[in-house]
This record gives sequence, C-alpha cells and structure tokens, in this order.
Amino acid sequence: MYMYANKNNVRVFIDMDKLCVSGGRPLVGTVTIGGMKNAALPIIFATILVNDICVLENLPDVSDIKTALEIVRRMGAEVKQLDKFTYSIDTRTVRSNSVPLDLARNMRGSYYVLGAELGRFGRSFTSLPGGCNLGARPIDQHVKGFEALGATVNCTSGISCYSENRLVGASIYMDVASVGATANIMLAAATADGMTVIDNAAREPHIVDLANFLNSCGANISGAGTEVIKIRGVDKLYGGTYAIIPDMIEAGTYMIAAAATKGDLTINNVIPRHLEATTRKLVEMGVEVEEGDDYVRVRSDGNLKKARVKTDFYPGFPTDMNPQFCVLLCLAEGHSKITESVMDSRFKYTDELVRMGAKITVTGRDANIEGIDNFHPANVRAVDLRAGAAMVIAALSANGTTVIDDIYHIERGYEDMVGKLRSVGADIKRVSENI
Ligand code: EPU
Repeated sequence: MYMYANKNNVRVFIDMDKLCVSGGRPLVGTVTIGGMKNAALPIIFATILVNDICVLENLPDVSDIKTALEIVRRMGAEVKQLDKFTYSIDTRTVRSNSVPLDLARNMRGSYYVLGAELGRFGRSFTSLPGGCNLGARPIDQHVKGFEALGATVNCTSGISCYSENRLVGASIYMDVASVGATANIMLAAATADGMTVIDNAAREPHIVDLANFLNSCGANISGAGTEVIKIRGVDKLYGGTYAIIPDMIEAGTYMIAAAATKGDLTINNVIPRHLEATTRKLVEMGVEVEEGDDYVRVRSDGNLKKARVKTDFYPGFPTDMNPQFCVLLCLAEGHSKITESVMDSRFKYTDELVRMGAKITVTGRDANIEGIDNFHPANVRAVDLRAGAAMVIAALSANGTTVIDDIYHIERGYEDMVGKLRSVGADIKRVSENI
C-alpha cells in the first residue's frame, strides 16, 4: 500500500508495506545476484553524455534504478524496457536544463546528471541530492573537480554548473577518494579538451565499470581501479550495448545472511575478488567460504568468533556492509568492534538492533558489541537501505516473528529480496498496512 505524504516539502508516495519475518530457519540453496545499483546509476546518467542509443543489460530491478530511468525519460530520452533487466535509452532528444527536481532530490545518485550534462551541454542544474541519511555528505570534491575543468559552480539553491566554452582537462587531486566525485569528474572530463588526471581517485569496482562503459562508447580513460585515473577527452561518444557488473553489496548481504542463520548458501553471478574484504572477515570469524569463478558458497555451524572491523574505501571493508556485519558480530562470542571511517554517521540502525536484544554501545565512530545468544523478535524500522538489510538478517536469525517497517528503503537497492530469501527457505512476507 502506498501513502501520499509530505516529506521535506515534497509530495512523494511512500510505501507503507512491512516485512514479516519468522526467523530461526537456516538459509539453504542458491541465490542469484543482480546488477550493481551503484554502478548502474552513473552509467544510466552517462547515457545523457553519450547522446546516442545505449542498451544497458543487467540493470537491477530496484526502485532507485526506476527513479533514475524516469529522470532520464522526463529529460526527453526515449527509454524502452527490452526485458526485465535490459533497457534501451536513446538520449539524442534530451533537452538541456530539464532535470525533474522532484525526483532528483529524492536520490543521491541523481547528482551524476551534473557531470553528464556539463560534458554535453556545458551547463546543468539539479537539486541537492537526497539518499540515505548517513551524516554530512558534502559535495565539495565534485565542485572542486568541475571548477578545475573550467566550470562555474553555484550551490546556493540546488546545484548549478556552467561553462561558456568547452571544458578543458586538468589535474585534480581529490582530498577524499569519493566515489561520487570521481564518477562525476570522469563524466565531465570524458569529452573535455585534453587530458584530465584524477589523483587519489576512488578505486571501487563501480568506478571501473563506469570507465569500461564510457570506453565502450569511445572514451579514452585509463587507470580506473587505481588511485590515478587519466581521461583523454574525445570529441564524440557512440552508443552500444553494455552489461552492468554484479552487485557486491547484495552478494555480501546474502553471505552474511547465510552465516547468521547457520545456513549453506551458494551465491551465483558474483565477482569473488570484489567480495574479498567480506570473505576475509567471515573466514576470520570461523565461517566457511568457498570461492568459484563466479560464485561463493558460504556455510556456518553458528560458532562465530569475535572480530574487529574497520570500514574503508575499496579494497577496504565496505561501509555499505557495516550494518549487516554488525548483526553477525552480535551473534559472535565475546567483544567485537566496528569502526566506521567512511561515513560520518552510520550507526543509527544500532538502536533498532538493541530493540531485538543486541548489546551495542556507540561512541563516535566506534560501535562496541557484546555477543548475545540470539536476537529476539520485535517491531523495528529500516532506517536506511543497508540498515534495512541488517534488520532482515537479524530477523532471519531470531526465533519468532519480527515486523520491519519503512521497507521502501530496502526496495531502493535490493532486488526481490523477499522472493530470493523465500527460495532458500526463509519465512518472510510483505504485508500491507491498513491505514
Ligand atoms: N565526501 C566529501 N566530499 C565530497 C564527496 C564525498 O567529503 O565531495 C565524503 C563523504 O562525506 C563521505 C565519503 O567522502 O564521508 C564517501 O563519500 P562518497 O562520495 O564516496 O559516497 P557517495 O558517492 O555519496 C556512494 C554510494 C553509497 C556508498 C558510498 C561509499 C551511490 C549512489 N552511493 O555514495 O551507497 O555508501 O559511495 O562507498 O553510489 C548505499 O548503496 O547504500 C549507499 C549509501
């Protein structure tokens, strides 16, 4: 059921459904991972820069991707769904200055429209981005990059960027290895005049995926996946067909769900190298992880050792796995600790886990965790996307029925989580709230 609500002065539909999870069953079987949301978002907006027909395969069926496609469509693109996960996007008809602000302000990834439009039209205007509330999420590195390329940027009400002339390549040192800023600068620089060098660039797999997509369209980008990315601007890009990489965070979430339920899950369609940080921590905790070419199998007998986890930029332990891993640490013997070093504030979810019996004390960027035998069922909320996934994992391990509210957060980034979990033995259903 959907409710018409007023959020930040914007009228939006909020999904009022809940998840009911009756836990205590091991997850056993096989799940298949979808395309990576955080790779697909910049690539969808990159199609605006390409100014041609692009076919994108393996797009995850999640609401953030639907919103991104709708933004591009409302900017004038012709967007056709070819099958469940494949879309053709013809951006030749996109108009400048046409970002639907009502949609853009609801998602973080909408800021990729800036780099794409700046590269194509020499100007862009959009709202300040929304997304999960994980503390202050400044955009100074995006601004620094655009300005270095010759654009004038103003962030007083929304974000506007323009440049009278073609952007000119520059050498940019990023003070923070930001994923969003690296991607945005790559977009703006792909068709700039001359060479751009991004130093201290983000190394996340989604940055490599964006570079691969742009290169498949004729761009000249090297070094993606290292700290130094070089972009030699080209005059024109061309459309083509491109498949998005598998979602390492979705995969990691199921790995932890297997471990937390004493299960045995084979997780297909993954790139095991992208999961290395999660795999290593699981193994350290006594979980069995077998790696194949494109799958991992995760088994646990429930005897979990304590661990210390510090989130970091890739290839460090992903901040987007912080809440899910915390659930596992709650089930480990003894004292564990998570230090969050990427996001300002990522521990709001711990209050919800405490309702389920967790013993967690948060001090600044550290969460100290005392092991418990198991969670108990409760009524809890998904406070953000990954926090929602953590609630589901805790509920799957608890004996009894947990009700999870605000599941629209989960559906922004997890494709058919209910269906996938049910197929491996979970008792989980989506129920409508009567309002
Ligand atoms: N930062 C700055 N200045 C900037 C940009 C970032 O100081 O100009 C700081 C941020 O405040 C933050 C850190 O750098 O502390 C990392 O931010 P980054 O820009 O790398 O993150 P993002 O682009 O805002 C993306 C994902 C997040 C994910 C982070 C980190 C998208 C749409 N979002 O956000 O995904 O947590 O990278 O990997 O790609 C999620 O999917 O649940 C999610 C929150």
